[in-house]
Amino acid sequence: MVMGLLGHPAFAAENSSTPSRTLIIWFSQPEEMKPDAVDGFSGASVLQKYTPETGSTQFVAQLIQKQTLGDLFRLETATPYPRQHDALLRVAEKEQQTNARPSLKTPLPDLSNYDTIYVGYPIWWYTMPMVIYSLFEQNDFAGKTIIPFTTHGGSRLADSLRQIARMQPQARLVTRALSISRNDVSGPDVPVQVEQWVKQVQPQR
Ligand SMILES: Cc1cc2nc3c(=O)[nH]c(=O)nc-3n(C[C@H](O)[C@H](O)[C@H](O)COP(=O)(O)O)c2cc1C
Repeated sequence: MVMGLLGHPAFAAENSSTPSRTLIIWFSQPEEMKPDAVDGFSGASVLQKYTPETGSTQFVAQLIQKQTLGDLFRLETATPYPRQHDALLRVAEKEQQTNARPSLKTPLPDLSNYDTIYVGYPIWWYTMPMVIYSLFEQNDFAGKTIIPFTTHGGSRLADSLRQIARMQPQARLVTRALSISRNDVSGPDVPVQVEQWVKQVQPQR
């Protein structure tokens, strides 16, 4: 009988004791809000009109966590970025021009505990923030499923899938990555969009 089986202690024990094998790593840089900053080429996240401390990518990461019940890990750089838009643009541009590899503020969790790793980042200067290059060059994702997601101001995924595949050739890269414009991220459809996407890409255990 189905009810009996589902209520069986062995099932309950398995469900409650099996740790999630999903990790959600995200990088997001909320900016100091200027009222006229949202519409420029690289303007601040529209989300900040509503939730000042939440970056767009962070918001999407939280939706993915709700759906997967995975562990969240916020990627932060040892040297914090400026929160002023123009200063942030300049620092990010310089990092890219010098091909920098910013150091992480805190070490990653032990990746051996995870099979599926979502990695979220904004697009900066037509590619991933350089700290995402640090992440993929300095850690081994071999055998893991990497599921990228981005927020952006028009560049969608930019070159990020190609770059991740180059740096992690032994990983299974899900190319059906999620990419949400910062102009849409606070819209009413986004939670459902994320939920449906997770159902499509999340490997079944
Ligand atoms: C330094 C910088 C560079 C950016 N460059 C691009 C870009 O090349 N293409 C693009 O579509 N959006 C660009 N953007 C916009 C961000 O991708 C977008 O605002 C994103 O949603 C920010 O996510 P966050 O709030 O999680 O940090 C840039 C933003 C910043 C701060």
